[in-house]
Amino acid sequence: MEKNFSLRELNTFGFDVKARYFQELKTMEDIRELIANPEFIECRDAIRVLILSGGSNILFSSEFFDGFVVYPNLKGIETLEENAETVKIRCNCGEVWKNFVDYTVSKGLYGLENLADIPGKVGAAPVQNIGAYGAEVKDTVCQVHTIDLATGKTKVFSNEECHFSYRNSVFKKFGVWSLKCEVFPLIFAVDFILKKHGELKLDYGNIRNYLIANNITNPTIQDVASTVKAIRAEKLPEVGVVGSVGSFFQNAIVSVDKYQEIKALYSDVPSYPVEIPPLPSVGRNDSVSSPAMVKIPTGWLIDRAGWKGHRENHVGVWDKQALVLVHYGGGKPQEILDLMKKIQESVNDKFGIEIKPEVNII
Ligand code: EPU
Repeated sequence: MEKNFSLRELNTFGFDVKARYFQELKTMEDIRELIANPEFIECRDAIRVLILSGGSNILFSSEFFDGFVVYPNLKGIETLEENAETVKIRCNCGEVWKNFVDYTVSKGLYGLENLADIPGKVGAAPVQNIGAYGAEVKDTVCQVHTIDLATGKTKVFSNEECHFSYRNSVFKKFGVWSLKCEVFPLIFAVDFILKKHGELKLDYGNIRNYLIANNITNPTIQDVASTVKAIRAEKLPEVGVVGSVGSFFQNAIVSVDKYQEIKALYSDVPSYPVEIPPLPSVGRNDSVSSPAMVKIPTGWLIDRAGWKGHRENHVGVWDKQALVLVHYGGGKPQEILDLMKKIQESVNDKFGIEIKPEVNII
């Protein structure tokens, strides 16, 4: 166990945050030892515990995390089952997500190619149901293996039990463990089902145009992954070079009335339909349908509010994608929080929409 440990290399914003306690876990034995360790038990019951993965979706709100950071880093990829149609692969939590995607793409397996180059580690992928370019990880996850840091009991979550939705799952609420939590599942491995034959998803954004522009008429999985990588590199800051967490905000989900109000003023507003699960029923004969909602890209709202490329001292709004806040180095988390509030107020003043962070603010 390390004390007063710098997390600068372990958060992609690159803030020099110190953790009171820090423990890397490389094996299941390490995890079990930690759970039984009296020092951990004492800390666990007195201060906060945070499970940190790739640190690519986290913002520490101050420069000292007065708690215990657990850093699961188990490596390993294993093929569990294979038939004529599919392959079931287990990947341990500490594998780097983009390397895992490259591995599956190199094997010619369908399912993860649109999720190429997303920063972070495999263990965190189900937590916020990572998604990009028309794909979400929920469509390939078949089981999530967890161990409870309170009791040491293991539990396997089926896809249904994960309750995946847009950038959300049952695991999201376990961000930081305080005394109120009764269980605290740590994800140590994820099982994926990938297809040997499948259809490529080319309809999102400019994937298809990009392929056509490069004279690729009959694209392979590799072509799609390379295209996604190229599009991402054009729009998003390079991880490790400019501090960021990718999308800082979630896209806005608004009522049809609100959307029409905005559309009347800005005819070019982009939008996507939203799939919302039906509301729980409240009596007999009452299948209550959810109100229709529309997704408006928050990047567009922030852009239209005039923030794209704006810089304040050490932080700013990325000039190629306004959904991304960046840290140019030497700054403090509070600067990002101040910028976040200004942007939220400005978007609310202009459009009457409250935008929410996508990043976990700890
Ligand atoms: N737009 C603007 N100005 C901007 C940014 C976007 O006008 O500054 C417009 C674009 O022109 C486009 C629309 O907004 O019409 C959507 O933009 P984009 O396709 O870049 O996607 P996004 O909705 O802003 C989401 C994800 C990204 C993911 C991309 C591609 C969220 C919160 N973000 O962004 O995910 O890479 O789609 O699929 O859903 C991440 O989560 O860290 C992330 C980068």
